[in-house]
Amino acid sequence: MAERPYLYVRGVSKHYETAPDPRLGSGGVRVLDNISFTARKGEFVTIVGPNGCGKSTFFRILAGLEEMDYGRILIGGKTPEEAKIGFVFQNYRESLYPWRTCLGNLMVPLELDGVPRKDRKRRVEEFLWMLDMSIREDAYPYELSGGQQQMLAILRALIYQPDILLLDEPFSSLDFQTTLWMHDKIMEVWEKTGVTILFISHNIHEAVYLADKVVVFSKRPARVVEVIETGLPRPRDYKVTETDQFFEVKNRVMELFREEVMDSFLFMELSGF
Ligand SMILES: Nc1ncnc2c1ncn2[C@@H]1O[C@H](COP(=O)(O)OP(=O)(O)OP(=O)(O)O)[C@@H](O)[C@H]1O
Ligand SMILES: [Mg+2]
Repeated sequence: MAERPYLYVRGVSKHYETAPDPRLGSGGVRVLDNISFTARKGEFVTIVGPNGCGKSTFFRILAGLEEMDYGRILIGGKTPEEAKIGFVFQNYRESLYPWRTCLGNLMVPLELDGVPRKDRKRRVEEFLWMLDMSIREDAYPYELSGGQQQMLAILRALIYQPDILLLDEPFSSLDFQTTLWMHDKIMEVWEKTGVTILFISHNIHEAVYLADKVVVFSKRPARVVEVIETGLPRPRDYKVTETDQFFEVKNRVMELFREEVMDSFLFMELSGF
């Protein structure tokens, strides 16, 4: 019998009501059109798709922050409202508490989970030990580099022991050098925790390098154009990016992506770019 998927997304559709427009009529804007795919427990799934196609909306629905019009989502048998969701955004400056130290930030999920005050520090230390990572406990977020801040935000989401970790373009605000470091660090943390990750990326190289599976979304309203199993070996390092297999997968994702954004290229040409 086939293994039951851990993450089950079936027929998810969503539209937003908009103010009536005399040229366009009413009816709102369709954002998600019948999104379906599955993921195994502990899988690393990346999502790529054109600008504004509905990726972040899909994450907000997965996180139980917004309702879908139709469809069904199960995360380890739980609905988005029941599941524990870790959510990290692009903008780490807005997600960390600036008035709290690194240690204080990592303790937030433990406080919310009702862990007694006297046990919190020990729990953070055990967690970091398990990951073989260290932090500057007494430093404030502004004293850290962008990469360190974003890693702190990711660690804070993980210490909560989420059923799934959603990362919405987490490295888009970082410089190239830091991004390369983050790629290897996130894979290390993922392997040690065994957490299931969904990761939205604008960078096709990154999306293929990190993923077991790449889900390609169409332009808005987003459909799933194709789900591509990368089949690349684990543990993984940059050497994999020099293999024929990596090139093949990357080219396929690129090809699908270009087909979706062709119209907007044409629009940019016509409007004088
Ligand atoms: N609350 C809302 N009300 C109306 N329209 C919305 C709302 N939130 C998002 N939209 C629209 O839905 C569409 C999808 O937005 P969303 O942010 O999900 O796309 P995205 O794929 O994450 O974009 P990006 O690539 O820029 O991150 C956009 O056209 C956006 O303007
Ligand atoms: Mg987005």
